[in-house]
Order: sequence, then C-alpha cells, then structure tokens
Amino acid sequence: MASKRMNKEYYYPTQVYFTDLHDGEELNGLVLPDIYSWRRDDPEGLLRTNTPQLGAWHSPTDMHIRLRYRPLVAEIFEFMHGVYDDLGYDPAYEPVCDSMWVNINPKYSHNRFHSHPHALWSGVYYIQTPEHCGLLYFNDPRPQAQVLTPYYDPTRRRMETWNEVLYQPKAGRLIVFPAWLGHAVQPNLSEEAGSAGDRISVSFNFYQRRRDATVPNPNRKEIVRRDLDDGAGSETFMDRAIDDQ
Ligand SMILES: [Fe+2]
Repeated sequence: MASKRMNKEYYYPTQVYFTDLHDGEELNGLVLPDIYSWRRDDPEGLLRTNTPQLGAWHSPTDMHIRLRYRPLVAEIFEFMHGVYDDLGYDPAYEPVCDSMWVNINPKYSHNRFHSHPHALWSGVYYIQTPEHCGLLYFNDPRPQAQVLTPYYDPTRRRMETWNEVLYQPKAGRLIVFPAWLGHAVQPNLSEEAGSAGDRISVSFNFYQRRRDATVPNPNRKEIVRRDLDDGAGSETFMDRAIDDQ
C-alpha cells in the first residue's frame, strides 16, 4: 500500500481522444456510395501503408476539400476544436486540416506500422466495420521503457502501464491521437462476402494555423472550420474545393 508520504505525478502523457458521432449512421449511409464511386473513378489510388496486392485501396488525400464530404469534415473539425481547447492550445491558433483520405481494406488487407509526419494530430473515423475487420494498434512510444518490462499483478494492472493498446473499430466512431504515435491496422479477417466484408475508414491530419493568417500555405491543401460554413465558404476554399457531384 502506498505510504501517505509518497507523492506521485504523471509527465508526458499520450492522449487518445474518441467519440461516437450521434449521426454517424446517417453520415455513413450518405458517403458510402460516394466512396465506392470515387474508387471506380480512380481505381489505382495511392500506395501508402496499405496492401494493394490484397485489393486494398487508399484514396487521394484531398477528401477534406471534396464538397460531397463536407458534413463529415465539419463533424471532424468540431471534434478537433474540442481537442485543442482541452489541451489548452493558444486560441490565436486554430485546427487546420491539410489531408484526409479513405482506406478500403478488403479481406486479409492491413496497414503496416507507421506514424504521420508533418502533422500534430491524426485520426480515424469508421464508415464500415464488419466483425473481425482488424483492430487499431498503438504501442508505447517510449522504446526505452520496453528494455526491461516489469512483472505486474494482473489484477492490479492499470491502463497507464500498458505497453500496447488495441481499439475496436466501430462504424460512427472517431478516434484522434498524436500524429507521432506509431500505429497499425491488423488484418481484416471478416467472414462477410463481397463488399460487406470491406473495412472502410477515413484518416486525416491536423496541425495549427494562426486565426489571422490570410495566406494559406501554398504547398498544402489547408482548410479551417470557417471554410466549411454553409453558403459559399471562403474564397480560398472555393478555389481549392473539388465538386465532383
Ligand atoms: Fe495512420
């Protein structure tokens, strides 16, 4: 038992935020046909951490400026503003997104271990998650802490001492984590036939931009929340937006 004189403080925590969107089912029903038609139009997609040899598809990374996905992008922005507020970030800087994409992982496909360079926060939102479609895996970002791992009493093990974490994907769930945190997606072992067995998720990257910045970074497809407001959106956003209805 801890002594009364024993003080304890936690430093360098690794936060993972998550929520289940209340309108996730409706949003997913809306975007699912668009995602498959996007793949039909661009069957090659991009090669990143996925396994195209197994039929996996990674879309281009401009989903956040495609107008048909605006309701989903707006929900993600709402959540990111909450994260930045929770962390006490300087309100002179706001969340900015420069990349968002879809992954379609059919049976046996997976995403190898990786992190997301050039971003502060990354996240995933689940569109379709058949049973056994592959867990999201994170490991302890402090490799030196795994040189000698202690023996724990399993009945007293606390989550802050875990060195691996697995998240169950769930349609409508949004998970946000530090972009530097290494992660992987386990193989999709769904028994569902055809496209019902596809694991479909959206991934994205965020960082910070000063609210009074007038010129977005020309090398990035940046957008901020006000770009998504109903109506015309900002001029800059409309210049960059892709309307492929
Ligand atoms: Fe990732």
